Order: sequence, then structure tokens, then C-alpha cells
Amino acid sequence: MQRREFIQTGARFAAGAMFMGFGGSKLFGGAPVSRPGPTGSIESITLNNGIPMPILGFGTLYLNEDLGVRCVADAISLGYRLIDTATVYGNEASVGAGIKKSGINREELFVTSKLWVDDSGYEKAKKAFQTSLDKLGLDYLDLYLIHRPRGEVKASWKAMEELYKEGKIRAIGVSNFEDKHLEELLSYASIKPAVNQIESHAFFQQDKANQSLKQYGIQMEAWSPLAQGRNRHFTNETLAAIGEKYHKTNAQVSLRWHYQRGIVAIPRSSQKAHMIENLNVFDFELDASDIKKIDSLDLNITQFPEWE
Ligand SMILES: NC(=O)c1ccc[n+]([C@@H]2O[C@H](COP(=O)([O-])OP(=O)(O)OC[C@H]3O[C@@H](n4cnc5c(N)ncnc54)[C@H](OP(=O)(O)O)[C@@H]3O)[C@@H](O)[C@H]2O)c1
Repeated sequence: MQRREFIQTGARFAAGAMFMGFGGSKLFGGAPVSRPGPTGSIESITLNNGIPMPILGFGTLYLNEDLGVRCVADAISLGYRLIDTATVYGNEASVGAGIKKSGINREELFVTSKLWVDDSGYEKAKKAFQTSLDKLGLDYLDLYLIHRPRGEVKASWKAMEELYKEGKIRAIGVSNFEDKHLEELLSYASIKPAVNQIESHAFFQQDKANQSLKQYGIQMEAWSPLAQGRNRHFTNETLAAIGEKYHKTNAQVSLRWHYQRGIVAIPRSSQKAHMIENLNVFDFELDASDIKKIDSLDLNITQFPEWE
């Protein structure tokens, strides 16, 4: 299939998907590019339209009402700059209040929200986007994703392309898209998705999807990067043995592993101690034998069948 010319050329920036760690440490398998994050504290990758996106962010699923406000404000105060929410989480207002409470400058943040299936369609998507902005109390989003490949995807994408061109969204992308969904979208898109946010953790690693996304020049972002603790992630013996070598926890080993794969991860926590722990992953490096052991944990199947 002939690809039409995209407004944003993936190839030019595809190298940004892989990078060097702090101090120039060599990471696994990629053309190295080093860039500071929006705040300079958490490293950023560069999306296919040239926008920097922090490699590590904060997830907000289930963090609603006052809990959401407190957690988002805490996360920002601790150094998180990427905040991930979605209309269907029902917490955009809390996330917005948390951002306000933090007192941070808007430009220092990278805020993502997602268009839910019920809001798909040209007019509905535009309206839903504005509702998200209003709830968040923001006048632009850094990233807006189609949450699932269902409903009127083509019409939604057209609306999102227009909002992007109007400068209301800095990057547009998708979530839970498989290759077949991406192929279809790419057949009519004039703007290539910058990101595909998909399930990825030690037990469902998604290497094939990652390789495929690299070919497309689309950044992979891992949801549930800690598998929500399922499958006894936090006491897994393989992760624990690796962590012992570096005095790191299972969560830190997993997050370091995502980082070394060049994948954006958005762990969620309601506890300040865990938020700090999850940020503390840039001072050690997994070696090839560690990676091989983590590879062996892959069950190659979703751990969230109820969301299929
Ligand atoms: N696009 C999609 O379809 C989709 C789907 C799912 C999720 N997401 C996004 O991805 C984000 C992350 O995924 P998730 O929230 O499902 O799960 P997750 O980040 O993999 O895991 C969160 C769980 O891990 C615990 N935890 C976090 N850090 C820990 C640590 N250092 N030690 C021990 N336990 C720790 C948290 O408990 P505590 O609160 O006690 O720390 C919480 O129960 C979501 O919040 C959401 O923003 C997107």
C-alpha cells in the first residue's frame, strides 16, 4: 500500500524513540539521542512531530475525587511531569484540581487525556475534547488519544487532526490499537499517530507490537506497567533476585526495564513512598542477563481479559 505523505514525518524523528540514558550509559538496541525532559529532571523521548514527552509519567486510573487531587499534586511536587488521565476514568476535574494545587507552570507539564468510545464521531469528539479541557481547567492538551479502536474512529481522527492543526493538542495518538487498526487508520490519516498506549509489563511484554510501532515511527507507551500488581508482580522471585543485585524493588526493576526498552511508562500510585520509589530508577542499569531473565517472564497474553 502506498503511504500518503504525512504532515508529520515519522522518519525524521523516529530516532527519538531510542536514546541514551543519563551519563551516556548505553541502552539496548537503538540509535541514541539524548534530550532533556520538559523540566530537565525526567528524561524525554521525542515524538514523531518533534514534541518531547517524558519517558516516565504518572497514571491516574481509580484516583478519583479528593484522592485524585492529592495524588496528582503530590506526584507533581515529587517531579512527575507527564500526567495520564481519560474521560472514562471520571477524574479529569480532580486531575485538573491537582495540577492547580501543585502550582506548577502549565508549560512544564505533559498532560494526556483520551476520547472514550461513546464520544466517537466528528462532532461528538470535538465536544468531548472541549469537555475534557474544561474539566481539566486547561486550554490545550499535550496528547489526546483515541482510547479504544471502536466506534467511528475515522470521523474522530478527522476531528482530532483539526484540533491538532488549531494548536489545541500538541500531539494526537491512539490506545489499544493493533496493527490492523493502525493500518486502517494510516490509510486515511493525514497526520500519523504519535503514540500508541497499550498494555505492557513483565507478563505481557508486547515486543512484537513494539517492533511494529518502531517501523511506523509511533512511540509505544505502556499502560499498567506494573501489571497492577497482578500475577504477584511485587513478589515475583525473578524480579526480586535481579533487584537484590542493585538494591532495587520489583517495581523499580520493571520500570527500569521499560525505560531501557525506550518505552514510556505511567505507573500509578496513591502512596507518596511508592511515587518516590517509582521515580528512583535512573541510577542503575540492567545488564543483558537481567533482560534475558525478564524476557522469560513473558506469558504473551493480556492480564486484563475483562477489558478486552
Ligand atoms: N489506555 C488504556 O486502556 C489504559 C488501561 C489501563 C491503565 N491505563 C493508564 O495506565 C496507568 C497505569 O496503569 P494501572 O493504574 O492500571 O496500574 P499500574 O501502574 O501497573 O499499577 C498500579 C498499582 O501498583 C501499585 N504500586 C505502584 N507502585 C508501587 C510500588 N513501588 N510498590 C508496590 N506497589 C506499587 C499501586 O498501589 P499503591 O496505590 O498502593 O501504590 C497500584 O495498586 C493508569 O493509571 C492509567 O493512567 C490506561
